[in-house]
Amino acid sequence: MNSSTGSIAPGLVPATARIGVIGTGSRICGVLKLLLRIAPGVRVTAVFDPDAAAIARCRAGVAPDAIVCASEAELCGRADVDWVLIGSWNSLHAAQAIAAFTAGKHVFCEKPLALSLDEAASMHAAWRASGRTFALGLVLRYSPFYRAARAVLDAGRIGRLLSFEFNETLGFNHGGYIHGNWRRHTRNAGSHLLEKCCHDLDLALWLAGDLPSRVASFGGRTFFTPENRFHQDRIGPDAEGRPAFESWPDANRVNPFTADKDIVDHQVAILEFGGGVRATFHAHCMTAITERRFYMLGSEGTLRLDASTGKLELRRVGWDEPLDVSNPIGGGGHAGADEPMARELAECMAGLRAPAAGFPEGLRSLVVAQAVDQAMHEGRVVDLAPLWARVQALG
Ligand SMILES: NC(=O)c1ccc[n+]([C@@H]2O[C@H](COP(=O)([O-])OP(=O)(O)OC[C@H]3O[C@@H](n4cnc5c(N)ncnc54)[C@H](O)[C@@H]3O)[C@@H](O)[C@H]2O)c1
Repeated sequence: MNSSTGSIAPGLVPATARIGVIGTGSRICGVLKLLLRIAPGVRVTAVFDPDAAAIARCRAGVAPDAIVCASEAELCGRADVDWVLIGSWNSLHAAQAIAAFTAGKHVFCEKPLALSLDEAASMHAAWRASGRTFALGLVLRYSPFYRAARAVLDAGRIGRLLSFEFNETLGFNHGGYIHGNWRRHTRNAGSHLLEKCCHDLDLALWLAGDLPSRVASFGGRTFFTPENRFHQDRIGPDAEGRPAFESWPDANRVNPFTADKDIVDHQVAILEFGGGVRATFHAHCMTAITERRFYMLGSEGTLRLDASTGKLELRRVGWDEPLDVSNPIGGGGHAGADEPMARELAECMAGLRAPAAGFPEGLRSLVVAQAVDQAMHEGRVVDLAPLWARVQALG
């Protein structure tokens, strides 16, 4: 399956994997669109999604010749599927990945890894038993922007990291999308922190090069509530007639101000890392000025990076040190990471490399998200030592 096509054009990847897709929603179709462009030898052979409209959109866009399966079990059992790509709700990732590993398939699964450490442990056991490749869609790991930041830190340009702030504050239509679709229920998606900010937590651990040992948090929902629905009328529709907070496409949306949900719309957290670095995090679902920013303070310099502007700023501590400003993002979504992730996934399929994000990264961000949420719900500082011991025991 992983043999070269021989006649592949320069810049394209010689993968020939046959793909089965479970959960044919917007994200996985976007990943596939790039993947098939970069690796034209890859084919989507089978699809499964309980929503016929989602299947139709996927087939029209990226999988015209795919067989439509009646269940995930049927798809996983097909001999013409080498890789299973999972783009379903977060609550389904573990069971569907386990079904794919058990059938001997390689798996790419969208983030987050799973909803609980128990689910993740079962998934991990099935993966280990299968001997197959597992790649996780922590897309920002592939971003030239964050890789440039990591290189600045590795080169010692800010000295020893002392403390940092980071955040993810979403535009009001993005927040409305989250609070109006399946993500509004933790039973489908897990918490907002896990579903949306697992990326940011993963980046924080990666950039800090350490694991948090203690966390605390406060959060709640004070904007996407029924009494604030008047803001939709106050702002009015956009030029195409779409209501404010509902401009992102979603075939299955409900009004984001509905009371029927159990996720927060803002949350703050403090984290203390094992090596003594301290950090604050702020997630918010409704802003007019979006940020996805890290502000990192070291013994010899300061690094500030904001994916929403693409600007990476570095200044050494000292007299008259210049502010070094760069913009390493070539373009594209997710801090320029979508295309590199598709390329590296194709290279994994061709047997040319291992994934940049897999179980270790997924597990760590899941553990931190759960500990921070536990701290918020229980109103106390949570010690992560027992959780890290459990992760370590997975091997
Ligand atoms: N890496 C990223 O940056 C990124 C961005 C967006 C979404 N995602 C992740 O991608 C996944 C899908 O998100 P989306 O935005 O594409 O949502 P979506 O609603 O567009 O797609 C989800 C799909 O899952 C399908 N589904 C529901 N129940 C199913 C079942 N039992 N079996 C199979 N499929 C089922 C739905 O019908 C839908 O088509 C989520 O895990 C999300 O966290 C990742």
